[in-house]
Amino acid sequence: MLTLTSTFLKILALLHVAQVVNADPTHVGPRSSVNGRWGLVQEGTSGVSAMQLAVVTDTKAIVFDKVEHNPLTVDGHPAWAAEIDLPSRTVRPLNPISNTFCATGSFLSNGTMVHTAGNPFFEVDIGVTDGISGTQSVRLFTPCDDASCDLIEDPNVRRLTSRRWYTTSARLEDGSVFIYGGSTANGFITNATINNPTYEFFPPKNINGYNGVQIPSQFLLDTLIANQFPNVLVLPDGNLFIAANQQAMIFNWKTNTETRLPNIPNGVRISYPFSAGLTMLPLTPENNFTPEILTCGGADLDDSLATGAYSSQSPTSNQCARLVLTRQGIAAGWKVEHMPQNRTMVELILLPDGRVLMVNGMSTGVGGYGTGVFDMINESNADHPVFTPLIYDPNAAPGRRFTVAPISSKIPRMYHSTATLIPDGSILLAGSNPNSDVIFNVTYPTEYRMEFLSPPYMFRPRPTFTGLPATLDYGATATVNVNLPRGTRSVTAVLMDLGFATHGVHMDQRLVHLRSTLSRDGKTLRITGPANPRIYSPGPGFLFIVTKDGVPSEGKRFLIGTGAQPPVDQGAIENLLRATENLNSVAPLKH
Ligand SMILES: *[C@@H]1O[C@H](CO)[C@@H](O)[C@H](O)[C@H]1NC(C)=O
Ligand SMILES: *[C@@H]1O[C@H](CO)[C@@H](O)[C@H](O)[C@H]1NC(C)=O
Ligand SMILES: *[C@@H]1O[C@H](CO)[C@@H](O)[C@H](O)[C@H]1NC(C)=O
Ligand SMILES: *[C@@H]1O[C@H](CO)[C@@H](O)[C@H](O)[C@H]1NC(C)=O
Ligand SMILES: *[C@@H]1O[C@H](CO)[C@@H](O)[C@H](O)[C@H]1NC(C)=O
Repeated sequence: MLTLTSTFLKILALLHVAQVVNADPTHVGPRSSVNGRWGLVQEGTSGVSAMQLAVVTDTKAIVFDKVEHNPLTVDGHPAWAAEIDLPSRTVRPLNPISNTFCATGSFLSNGTMVHTAGNPFFEVDIGVTDGISGTQSVRLFTPCDDASCDLIEDPNVRRLTSRRWYTTSARLEDGSVFIYGGSTANGFITNATINNPTYEFFPPKNINGYNGVQIPSQFLLDTLIANQFPNVLVLPDGNLFIAANQQAMIFNWKTNTETRLPNIPNGVRISYPFSAGLTMLPLTPENNFTPEILTCGGADLDDSLATGAYSSQSPTSNQCARLVLTRQGIAAGWKVEHMPQNRTMVELILLPDGRVLMVNGMSTGVGGYGTGVFDMINESNADHPVFTPLIYDPNAAPGRRFTVAPISSKIPRMYHSTATLIPDGSILLAGSNPNSDVIFNVTYPTEYRMEFLSPPYMFRPRPTFTGLPATLDYGATATVNVNLPRGTRSVTAVLMDLGFATHGVHMDQRLVHLRSTLSRDGKTLRITGPANPRIYSPGPGFLFIVTKDGVPSEGKRFLIGTGAQPPVDQGAIENLLRATENLNSVAPLKH
């Protein structure tokens, strides 16, 4: 009987696998990844220090800085935001009116970026007298290719319901943006007084008993002290994965229900100022779109010490931990591995071939600057920059997943540095400024130089494609014309959200394999949109066509869904404006 039952279960398991395969007979993910020569070039400058970075079109990225004496000017004063033209490596200044220091960004379903929160005041006098506080700011940016777009900001029309600094955002399945946590005032680290243990939406919603205004979150109380820039990811069942400090949970935003997950192992803290990198691994038909989280780095320091008890030489962690978000995976718990380097503020960047690139950051110290930690390096709270990229292959056997790239930068990418995959397939490394203003005669100066890192696939013959439609709806098909390297018999259609990077957190970063069928003559590829908006929220994405050997085409931007705006609840907007004080009054120049 026992044998019979187990045989029966085995047959069931086989049937299950067979079903998954049958559901998508044409899908074959990249089987290997390209090794060999890497490239790293330093080209162009970002004009402002790149604290926040996001790709906005096939050829443009935007960067945000804090208000400081940047060389790029706009409207007769130093700029603190800019648009990078990626092919020419040149910049155009942008002109927000509030201080974007420690803000966040996500795109709506219609492709407009919502850039929220920021600094309450202008810490540095750059001659702007009509700037406003950034903590309640909602700035809209609709990307353009003709240099006509800028940030739109009017606190009388749209604003956050409360003050936020070091907050996080994520695009939801209805195309709106979820805004989570942060602090109401500045400090090296948050505390119970300045913690903002609430969440809200843009556009605002009437939900969970709150009409447009912020909703309390117990998790943000339980994760004190070090819980700024929490990690928030949309899961394929519509719930959110949220992690901050040493804790993690599944959050149902529709019912306001928190379900706790096992803590990050070995007491490692993963949010600012002990920042780790964190990403969801690729969602593919092979893994049945099962979400799995990877977090690397951080520190296991006590988060309740006096500022002077931290040091630029404090140890950071070399731990990576993975958790599969299924019932069995959660029961099995986090699986621990170790990087060949200790790191904080490491950026985990998904590559089109499904691997994870790790760049930037430091191997000792903590986030922030000028806060009086012991042994500051000039104003830097950290030391020992990590110059060498690491590659992590999630599908390799344990013990064989890390490769140290055979190339190193010479530019320290410390606090307030960023990095992102860009559409041509290379990785832009930018920023670094652990200083209160622009300064060059220090060990870790204000950094404007941009670097472009090329993985080995950049030097191989690459697929190209044309004819991508502007939008691709769920389950709908589109056919693109492809030109594949000789001998290519199968490819994978890879949909990526390149995200919005700041402080080592990559908001909305995501990689999803689409179902696709290559024509017999290898000249056209029919792709099918994601099954539903929980797999990939409606909004911008980049399509990469990747050969079985792991060589990607350049990425092209399109909108998943219909390109319609998210739900707009006029009653919730009016209630928000009525119920919350407009704190975005003209900002004092100093504290
Ligand atoms: C909380 O942080 C703020 C800003 O750093 C600081 O002024 C305040 O004293 C702190 N409060 C407590 C209770 O530590
Ligand atoms: C690296 O991290 C490990 C734990 O993750 C720790 O035991 C070790 O002391 C760290 N080393 C340095 C140099 O920080
Ligand atoms: C550093 O440079 C600033 C000007 O940027 C100058 O005022 C300052 O005296 C210099 N400090 C040192 C120690 O060289
Ligand atoms: C930065 O620190 C170095 C080493 O302590 C010191 O020589 C230099 O003067 C400092 N620079 C500034 C601008 O304070
Ligand atoms: C996208 O939707 C938002 C929210 O409704 C709206 O403010 C914005 O203007 C829309 N963008 C475009 C390009 O229509």
